[in-house]
Amino acid sequence: MDLSLKGKVAIVTGAGGGGIGTAAAYQLAGEGATVVANDIDRGWADKVAKQVVSMGSKSIATYADVAIFKDCTAMVDKALSEFKRVDILVTIPAYMGSGSFADSSMDNAHRVVDVTFWGTLNAIKAALKPMLAQRSGSVVCMGSDSARMMPRGESMYAASKSAIMTFATCLAKEVGSSRVRINVVNAALVSTPDQEGLEGHYARHYPLGRFPTSNEVADTIAFLASDRAAMITGQSISVNSGLL
Ligand SMILES: NC(=O)c1ccc[n+]([C@@H]2O[C@H](COP(=O)([O-])OP(=O)(O)OC[C@H]3O[C@@H](n4cnc5c(N)ncnc54)[C@H](O)[C@@H]3O)[C@@H](O)[C@H]2O)c1
Repeated sequence: MDLSLKGKVAIVTGAGGGGIGTAAAYQLAGEGATVVANDIDRGWADKVAKQVVSMGSKSIATYADVAIFKDCTAMVDKALSEFKRVDILVTIPAYMGSGSFADSSMDNAHRVVDVTFWGTLNAIKAALKPMLAQRSGSVVCMGSDSARMMPRGESMYAASKSAIMTFATCLAKEVGSSRVRINVVNAALVSTPDQEGLEGHYARHYPLGRFPTSNEVADTIAFLASDRAAMITGQSISVNSGLL
């Protein structure tokens, strides 16, 4: 399916790490989009932007910490000054923190929510301004099946991901008349660098027999970002090999 992203400008907020964000950046670029590769890790942002350029698309690197709203406005301002518009926002970063809510510090709890939930909202708030002015835009938020599985030890992370789904559905109703869409892509375990070694233990619980790859998650992100999904908004979908 040709997603026809030529001429579209996409920001990916956590484009580094070699996981889902990196795959999404390359997938969008492969479909012809210009990519703003944002990452708090400057080396990764630069690497992904360089790779996108070598694929034949335009790209710049930005270095916003998504937990900081003014970093996100600077990221969007940079995209606008270079490319004049923002059509697609893909929100990626999350922080799982150190397990148990009861045993961890409030600083840890705040950082989980600041990166996972506020990091998503900060980027959306910043990108909405040009999208509403253009009267078009597509936001795709990376969620997690932890929001539905509610595992022990992931209370702050799972609650943040759950809040992203509720937020997206409400916001979709608020901005739909401006032709701005917002959807969430969830996953259980994905074959990313972080999860190396886990697949051998857990893959048998996955009905399709293996974890999805980052590219397979990115396929759904790119589809929802594109006009092919013009009538889909406020939805959450899981790319999880049928786990739940
Ligand atoms: N990997 C999985 O199995 C899995 C499963 C379900 C959901 N997810 C979700 O997918 C997303 C990506 O996960 P991943 O494991 O592919 O990548 P990741 O968690 O390693 O992070 C991707 C990038 O985000 C950057 N980042 C982290 N904090 C940031 C911040 N505050 N500001 C800007 N950039 C920041 C990192 O430097 C990294 O390059 C997350 O939202 C995660 O919750 C992942």
